[in-house]
Amino acid sequence: MKHILAELDTRRTQALLGGGEKRIAAQHAKGKLTARERLELLLDAGSFEEFDAFVEHRAVDFGMDRTHIAGDGVVTGWGTVNGRKVFVFAKDFTVFGGSLSETHATKINKIQDMALKNRAPIIGLFDAGGARIQEGVAALGGYGEVFRRNVLASGVIPQISLIMGPCAGGDVYSPAMTDFIFMVKDTSYMFVTGPDVTKTVTNETVTAEELGGASVHAVRSSVADGAYENDVEALLQMRRLIDFLPANNCEGPPEIPSFDDIERLEPSLDTLVPDNPNKPYDMKELVTKLADEGDFFEIQATFARNIITGFARLAGRTVGIVANQPMVLAGVLDSDASRKGARFVRFCNAFEIPIVTLVDVPGFLPGTAQEYGGLIKHGAKLLFAYSQATVPLVTVITRKAYGGAYDVMASKHVGADVNYAWPTAQIAVMGAKGAVEIIFRQDMDDPEKIAKHVKGYEDRFLSPFVAAERGYIDEVIQPSQTRKRVARALAMLRNKHVEAPRKKHDNIPL
Ligand code: HXC
Repeated sequence: MKHILAELDTRRTQALLGGGEKRIAAQHAKGKLTARERLELLLDAGSFEEFDAFVEHRAVDFGMDRTHIAGDGVVTGWGTVNGRKVFVFAKDFTVFGGSLSETHATKINKIQDMALKNRAPIIGLFDAGGARIQEGVAALGGYGEVFRRNVLASGVIPQISLIMGPCAGGDVYSPAMTDFIFMVKDTSYMFVTGPDVTKTVTNETVTAEELGGASVHAVRSSVADGAYENDVEALLQMRRLIDFLPANNCEGPPEIPSFDDIERLEPSLDTLVPDNPNKPYDMKELVTKLADEGDFFEIQATFARNIITGFARLAGRTVGIVANQPMVLAGVLDSDASRKGARFVRFCNAFEIPIVTLVDVPGFLPGTAQEYGGLIKHGAKLLFAYSQATVPLVTVITRKAYGGAYDVMASKHVGADVNYAWPTAQIAVMGAKGAVEIIFRQDMDDPEKIAKHVKGYEDRFLSPFVAAERGYIDEVIQPSQTRKRVARALAMLRNKHVEAPRKKHDNIPL
């Protein structure tokens, strides 16, 4: 028995070393942790149960028959995050650059199947160069199996991808089909084809960072939902995110005991909106003052900052927050903001997370750049997503709700359940000046008449009361009471149930 146990020890020690000490040192020298060190940080201490540590590839071409490494470039298993079960896989860059072989794919497939069967989130840590080139179509087939399972699990269990090294090919396409992608600044890159191929095909000279670093994907392309300073911060933030998410689409949002009084008043909110309607203010102040303990996990914080999306808790339960940000482009809806909002609303709806919408929007952004870029289609995504949502929807209009953007931003008409407005709300087709310029065009040469028309329009329409008279606004509330009112509305809506007509699936404008 002794020598049998010794053999197990030897094999396990070998497997734990992955590509060997030299490659581990190289990994550390780049400021990156190894796959196993990452899992240790992500999961509760001692909770990781590994599978398939002894799996090896079966390739023989290009000298591969002489290169067998236990685990084959990916560490897989399950563990817990603050006591809640998650399935994990971590690519090991020290083994063939973390590239995916047929057997490597089978290991990931096993974890994907287990996560789906057991209805628990799956987190992938990526640091890998895509399909293992020496295996050809066997590796491509392996990716197909991973992709198909990504899609099957979409909307059933949360799927999270953390990009922690240079990633190419299938190692960017699989993350692209998951719910959230986060990156590590300066050490992680995502591209379909790297700088060398780019140079050959397009003659462009770009660095990896310029082509696919966090500065590209978390700011410009919106491929990534956020970026962190280093591996440790990124992994700890993933633990925080998991705390906000339901395990699956049936369980409902998790409840974490809150010590923050739900009746808490915030007198400072009574003066948040400036007297001058063209002066910005920070909508994040409202978000954090609304949330339990001011805790807000922002999604896509550095992309389309004119709309804010993220998770908070009210009375201990997770809610999705969607809010216009008057500090950036006056909170206008453009193509990027619409896409960002739409995807977030759909995630919340799929996973039964109630949505709180905070509105201060002057409308959709005019101009050729937006129209040529398909603003109609992108704006329609947000409209579609809200209209389709069956989760509890509570809306608070703080200031402007103009034109089509009024309809889109979770108005009563597209299905919101409880619609509040602050006394400072202005619900109208457009601002007074623009309106007067159109309907009183004949008086444009007479400033006195125009001023009178503007005043008349402001008095009639730039208030919450025209909408409240029609029941489109359920109640005009004191800003300082917003937290209590929204939480009570959500409590009332807790058992909301809506049956949508049967269909195979919708046809959201893509
Ligand atoms: C086999 C690979 C590999 C791969 C890297 N390696 N990628 N081995 N297949 N795909 C190996 C390298 O040979 C090297 O081995 C080690 O991993 C480290 O790689 P380096 O190149 O030294 O590291 P770095 O300079 O950091 O560059 C990382 C990289 C680059 C950007 C990922 O290696 C790269 O461009 N790899 C190829 C990417 C690619 O084109 N993949 C195929 C995509 S097709 P040694 O032994 O020398 O240290 C695909 C299809 C999916 O994935 C379908 C999508 C729809």
